[in-house]
Amino acid sequence: MPKNQLRIGLIGYSFMGRAHSNAFHQVNHFFPSSYEVIPQAVCGRDEAKVKEFAARWGYKSVETDWRKMIARDDIDVIDIATPNNLHHEQAIAAAKAGKMILCEKPLGLNGKEAEEMLKAIKKAGVANMVWYNYRRCPAVVLAKNLIDSGKLGRIYHYRANFLQDWTINADLPQGGTGLWRLDAKVAGSGVTGDLLAHCIDTALWLNGGIKDVTAMTETFVKERKHNLTGKVEKVSIDDACSFMCHFNNGSLGLFESTRYARGHKALYTFEINGANMSLKWDLHDLHRLQIFDYSDESQERGWKSVHVSDGDHPYCGKWWVPGLQLGYEHSFVHAMVEFIQGLESGKGAKPDFKDGLATDYVVDAVLASGKSRKWQKVKQVK
Ligand SMILES: NC(=O)c1ccc[n+]([C@@H]2O[C@H](COP(=O)([O-])OP(=O)(O)OC[C@H]3O[C@@H](n4cnc5c(N)ncnc54)[C@H](O)[C@@H]3O)[C@@H](O)[C@H]2O)c1
Repeated sequence: MPKNQLRIGLIGYSFMGRAHSNAFHQVNHFFPSSYEVIPQAVCGRDEAKVKEFAARWGYKSVETDWRKMIARDDIDVIDIATPNNLHHEQAIAAAKAGKMILCEKPLGLNGKEAEEMLKAIKKAGVANMVWYNYRRCPAVVLAKNLIDSGKLGRIYHYRANFLQDWTINADLPQGGTGLWRLDAKVAGSGVTGDLLAHCIDTALWLNGGIKDVTAMTETFVKERKHNLTGKVEKVSIDDACSFMCHFNNGSLGLFESTRYARGHKALYTFEINGANMSLKWDLHDLHRLQIFDYSDESQERGWKSVHVSDGDHPYCGKWWVPGLQLGYEHSFVHAMVEFIQGLESGKGAKPDFKDGLATDYVVDAVLASGKSRKWQKVKQVK
């Protein structure tokens, strides 16, 4: 059967650029479909470096100006893997050019930007997806399936953490390559938009909408040298954030993120407690789902750790044999599977720009509450 081509134009070629490129190469090998993913062009500002990346990762050509890449006729999909402050402009330009869009998270610097991005893709009628990749870990999909089956019963609690320790050193500068996450002009916010955005997206998917929030944010190191100006400048991001919330289903939420939890590198965990069943997941052990089932025989009742690698577990049957675990990179391959299946079904892929906006609204409310120290209603996506 002749294949539909998905010729990708990637903008940004560092951490996420590599994660996405790996997915573009692997998806056709492991998940046959009517679409052929072609790494067509990659854009970066440094010509020598972007050429080296293109050679290593099999891109056919390079651009040093993303606007030129968006204007090209031989590109079907624009993949945005740039710092957060560029998503808005690049996605809107891509939509205007009629390109399909894959965009990194958070969708916009804030809800207002994300609203404009959603409007642009709706007007253009182009396929879109946000790379909230943790939704695509097999163990997280298994959690989703169990929750949707109703087995948990009434949900009482949802809690999530995303803990790191890489900014504790007060001599670490802010801004520029590799450290733009410490500059709110580029990142939008600190841990709230960067790390908690992942926790929020997963929570909205698993447990439904969030009604209101009350938050505590802190900036522990108040001034850092800025890499671009060379001057010591005020730190504008939140270093840590904790918030409580009410979900629309009546359950209570508790979220915490920091880059000051010594010893933790990327400890993303979530737990959901229903009347009949509880589930726990941990990114450091991402191929496992912990399940407590109250309907088990009383003397045998306890937490069980399910190694999510069997042929009938989500996505797993397409990979190796049971027992061989999947890791971080596979979540991006699975996101591409969703994107392609969304095109094949005509229903679109999730999470889409509407979902990205929903998360940005929660982030906005959390940051506003952190400032006001009051409960804040969360704007709902219409
Ligand atoms: N889904 C996830 O788990 C996940 C993980 C990390 C980062 N992210 C998101 O991915 C995005 C990129 O993060 P990263 O860690 O890959 O950042 P990075 O700093 O490693 O890479 C950013 C890339 O963008 C390029 N870039 C910057 N300005 C540009 C411009 N004007 N034109 C073209 N290229 C430009 C840089 O040269 C670099 O190649 C961010 O939005 C971040 O929040 C998501």
